[in-house]
Amino acid sequence: MKGVILAGGAGTRLAPLTRITNKHLLPLYDRPMVTYAVEALTRAGIQELMLVTGGTHAGEFFRLLGNGHDYGIDRLFYAYQDGPGGIAEALGLAERFVAREKCCVLLADNVFQRTLRPIVERFEAQERGARIVLSQLDDEQHLRHLGVAAMQDGRVTGIVEKPETPPSRLAVTGVYFYDEQVWDVLPRLQRSARGELEITDVNNWYIERGQMEADVLEGFWGDAGESIEQYYEVNDFVRRHRVNA
Ligand code: G1P
Repeated sequence: MKGVILAGGAGTRLAPLTRITNKHLLPLYDRPMVTYAVEALTRAGIQELMLVTGGTHAGEFFRLLGNGHDYGIDRLFYAYQDGPGGIAEALGLAERFVAREKCCVLLADNVFQRTLRPIVERFEAQERGARIVLSQLDDEQHLRHLGVAAMQDGRVTGIVEKPETPPSRLAVTGVYFYDEQVWDVLPRLQRSARGELEITDVNNWYIERGQMEADVLEGFWGDAGESIEQYYEVNDFVRRHRVNA
């Protein structure tokens, strides 16, 4: 399985910290944020990765990760996103790299306490379609800043992006698994109100066709790029606990 780490975006929610660097290069406790995402995938057994980034600080990723060998990556590729066009647009840049294999897409500001390995293995065994990973959150205000799953009889019936009234307590985390159909879905997407190609639209495409599986996470999950409060919450967690374990 190929891995795609998305580390672009303007990082406006963490401004002015992101005036001086890319959000994913900011520290989480003792190392740059993106290294946690790299670790999450390599520990899950994915060793061929593409990192997609953009903006004025893209070169720093080379300085940090180089050819990836120090991080347990066999082959590391890079792609450059011209503008902040959204997660689904960034993923489109990885099309030739993934070459219609199965892929795991990870947002580089997402931190998971537990290893993703069992979920990766379940997707390896999945015949076709896609897979998302949900996290139970109790704070409604927090859910309003995320994608939230609508559920019926234990299955996801849809995802609502940044819902005013969250349809459940299950947030959609930033790790996604796709089969080769994703490359046919991406060109059909329309820009959302925030001017982006939304990964939620890709996921809803699979859900509508009954081809989406979901896991509910155990342990902590955080999106360190969601707000300055979340950035510090994730920092505090990482300082006190082992992650990707
Ligand atoms: C993105 C997704 C959202 C998901 C979140 C997880 O949000 O659109 O569905 O819950 O990542 O980190 P964004 O960071 O683009 O606001």
